[in-house]
Amino acid sequence: MKRIGVFVPGKVLISGEHSVVYGERALVAGIDKGARVVLEEDLSLSKPEILAKHDGMGLVKKAVKVAGGGALPLRIRIESDLPVGSGLGSSAALGAATIKAVKTYLGETITQQAWFDLTMEVERVAHGNPSGVDPAGVIYGGLVRFVKGKEITPLKTKKVISFLLVQTGKPKESTKEMVVEVVGNQMREKEKMTNTIIKNIGKVTRKLETAMRAGGEIRELINENGRLLEQLGVVGTKAKILADELRKMGAGVKIVGAGGIRKGSGMMLVYDSNLDLERSYLKQHNWNYMEVTIGQ
Ligand code: PMV
Repeated sequence: MKRIGVFVPGKVLISGEHSVVYGERALVAGIDKGARVVLEEDLSLSKPEILAKHDGMGLVKKAVKVAGGGALPLRIRIESDLPVGSGLGSSAALGAATIKAVKTYLGETITQQAWFDLTMEVERVAHGNPSGVDPAGVIYGGLVRFVKGKEITPLKTKKVISFLLVQTGKPKESTKEMVVEVVGNQMREKEKMTNTIIKNIGKVTRKLETAMRAGGEIRELINENGRLLEQLGVVGTKAKILADELRKMGAGVKIVGAGGIRKGSGMMLVYDSNLDLERSYLKQHNWNYMEVTIGQ
């Protein structure tokens, strides 16, 4: 029996969510958590069967089709340690892992660019009009500079960087709603102000890139980015209060991904040279968090 397992890492946006949609560069990094798709051949099947209830089932179905596996006798299992819809690239990682697994089953090799293009097709179903930063982060791994439609450049970080990702709650809004309605509408109604925030996020992203490549200080830059996202209006009250508490302890804090305002705001990145204080605060107040490392 043929059995193929593919693991694809999730991603975290170090900087550039939303501004990347308007042509600014983004910095995205693969993380040490991800999604695994396992294919098992079962010749009694006439088409793929996807096992286990998972939010990503529809997406995996689309990915199987896109990869040319719509009529294959496969049993497909999905395992993921990425929370869905919280800004860690769960849909891109699941899509990319499925595509790679089907292509491997078919005995076909694909270039990274072709893999990226196919994953983009799947992302369009989940996100409407994605910039491509999620597929770039999960496929290229490491630290990547991404410019929509123009550039995917792997970069080297001088140091391994560890941080916490706190779950502020799954957003009620989809990425598409946050991009098209929340920020998109604001761009139409208050164009000057919104454009200034977007440009400033672009500036911080460039400074962060320089700092990460040289092993410099990133804490204040993370905070600058976090505050700009708050000004942009993509962070909810609960997440803002938590961010302020953690900043008082000396941490650099920003949400990652599209954010959310009605309920949770997805994952929040917390960086400090020593995270002991932040860890004990989060434990004491029953916040769920995970430890993440990039740059390995
Ligand atoms: O899918 P998320 O929540 O990681 O957000 C992706 C980043 C956005 O800039 C908000 C959207 C996009 O397509 O770039």
